[in-house]
Amino acid sequence: MEKILKKILPTEEEKKKLKNVEEKICNALLKMGKKHEVCGSYARETFTRGNNEMDIFIFYPEDFPEDKFKDEIIKIGKELKRKKIIEDYEINYASHPYLQAKTDGVKIDIVPCYDSDKIISAVDRTPKHNRFLKDKLTDQMKKDVVLLKVWLKERNLYGAEIQHEGFSGYLCELLVLYYGSFENVINAIAKEWKPGIKIFFTNNYKGPVNDPLVVEDPVDPKRNVASPVSLKTLIKTIIEARLYIEEKKDFFLKKEKKLFENSQRIALKTKKPDINDEILWSQLKTLRKKLVSFLKEKGFDILKSSCVVIKDEIWIIFDLKSLKISEIQLLKGPEIEYYKDVLRFINKRNYYFVAEDGQIFSFKYREFTDVEKVLENIKSYVKFPKHLDKKWEIKKSIPKEVLDEHYRF
Ligand code: CTP
Ligand code: CA
Repeated sequence: MEKILKKILPTEEEKKKLKNVEEKICNALLKMGKKHEVCGSYARETFTRGNNEMDIFIFYPEDFPEDKFKDEIIKIGKELKRKKIIEDYEINYASHPYLQAKTDGVKIDIVPCYDSDKIISAVDRTPKHNRFLKDKLTDQMKKDVVLLKVWLKERNLYGAEIQHEGFSGYLCELLVLYYGSFENVINAIAKEWKPGIKIFFTNNYKGPVNDPLVVEDPVDPKRNVASPVSLKTLIKTIIEARLYIEEKKDFFLKKEKKLFENSQRIALKTKKPDINDEILWSQLKTLRKKLVSFLKEKGFDILKSSCVVIKDEIWIIFDLKSLKISEIQLLKGPEIEYYKDVLRFINKRNYYFVAEDGQIFSFKYREFTDVEKVLENIKSYVKFPKHLDKKWEIKKSIPKEVLDEHYRF
């Protein structure tokens, strides 16, 4: 583990650079009279090497109007830039506006929030997370959090953003706190976890209970910290944990790609619209699901499908058992004991046959037999989301860099 930590903990040089940036910005904020707190993985020393970013929260009284936050952070951005403390900034929106600044290769999110025991805006939890974790995570646990984050990153299971549907940094911290160490977390995942697993820190959890993984937010019992984790991510994580402890798989995953070599592949491609990632990915995800369910309904067997956003292109890729399917679709009938059902089944198609094992069958002709033809007219069958309702090309040969993303673990 020591050897691994040497590769993934931030370097001394990095830490010095971040400290320097932190001091410059915090001093300037103090001079401007802004009450603030450094949050996120930087503040808690649970960030991984190369993740040169920090989150700074500025506090406002409960009666500060939320619609004034934008002007407020623009003022702060301008002032920091005028003083040459940051190189540049832009305004971004999550649930509410925040400032994204850059200096010295460090990304700084400056986020306005409420100074209150209550949670008034969605970001108000973050400083509370800081206070909850700060005196609970030991130095060893902090290293274990970094191990867990990188172990998940290696397997493409990290990140709460919609395109990842994975584990957030804060979730990793809570898991290490709950189970005590990286090894214990992995062991629990491998041996105890199954869909529906719930982890509570208090006795009054009131959040969603049907998510595949529930981890109560100790600072807000109404929130499931693990709500971004999809069922697919959860199952992959459990399998990987079992492989890691039982089969002694390496910590760093070898990027051997098990290509679906015998599958047949087809893709849709278009130009990336100029919208933010959150909207783009949510529409892409909706569209991919709609396409998959339409194709499945029409009889095509889809082994894997994914969306890839690369440079200014977006791709939706499908691996099928076969691009062309038979015109004939077999229909399985009821068992002979079901008197009326048998007659109804046979009358409906006006034809039947019986297999050696007694199974009754009928058949019908399929509407589509060639996936390419379906995709050529796909817009007449499937409604495309607003920003993706444009011309899509059909591609059968796919560039390597796109395929690499498609087959990323
Ligand atoms: N946060 C959260 N849930 C999320 C994203 C963020 O509660 N899905 C809060 C957490 O308090 C988190 C802070 O916002 O610590 C900063 O978020 P972010 O920078 O995304 O993650 P870090 O925890 O800093 O982890 P890292 O940057 O190392 O990935
Ligand atoms: Ca962060």
